[in-house]
Amino acid sequence: MDFDLEMFERLCSQCRGKVKYFQEVESTNDEARRDICEGKGVSGNIYIAEHQTKGRGRGGNRWICPAGGGLLFSLVLDPDVECEHWYKMSLAVGMAIVDVLDDMGLVAKLKWPNDIYVEDKKLAGILIENVDGFLIVGVGLNVSVDEFPEEVVNRATSLCQIIEEKVEREVLLSKIVSAIFENGSLISEGFGHLRERVMSCFYLKDHQVSMVVNVDKLEGSVIGLSEKGYLLLKNEDGLAEICQASDIKIISLR
Ligand code: BTN
Repeated sequence: MDFDLEMFERLCSQCRGKVKYFQEVESTNDEARRDICEGKGVSGNIYIAEHQTKGRGRGGNRWICPAGGGLLFSLVLDPDVECEHWYKMSLAVGMAIVDVLDDMGLVAKLKWPNDIYVEDKKLAGILIENVDGFLIVGVGLNVSVDEFPEEVVNRATSLCQIIEEKVEREVLLSKIVSAIFENGSLISEGFGHLRERVMSCFYLKDHQVSMVVNVDKLEGSVIGLSEKGYLLLKNEDGLAEICQASDIKIISLR
């Protein structure tokens, strides 16, 4: 069933901007970007699609989801804090999604820096882009996808594979948007208040990881998060601190 825009607008008391709904679009992040570049960027605008033909994730990855199978949206934010704090937003958004899933009785984990995992499989991903002073928060969450492409079948999951009840995407989105506004308003205040919450659902903790950060290959054991919210990686060279705003690719995880 198509997304019920009227129902969503009724539910989402936090909707501060326009809500644009598309049956098919290349990427909701691109729609948000277009409005911003045309001077029509408004904090709180939400772009929702049933299907994306060029949905994308971090590091040039594609985000593929069958029509109507997911929650695919981009939310425009204009954080009233210096841009040096913006890197924290991916964890604030991730935490917002984890909290909403927790209210639904699901144990979700935040796989630093931008993935949501349930039962060791990826349920949702976050792509945050910075355009002309705005942040575009793009989220893809699998809701009723029952078959995944072969290359991700062992790594991806969907709400319909985890819980029996039917999930109303309108309700889910309105809760996620409110939680993002709530957590997003905290990013000016250091990272301490979010750090503890993130650590309580931190997927990488104590894992041995191998990753490429910008052009450097790093290996080590994940200790946790620094006061600033950077990943702390311990190896024979000491302790590396990695900011989530870097170009990061996790190659292996043990
Ligand atoms: C990732 O896993 O690396 C992030 C995936 C983000 C996908 C969402 S779907 C809505 C929005 N539009 C896009 O093109 N990407 C994001």
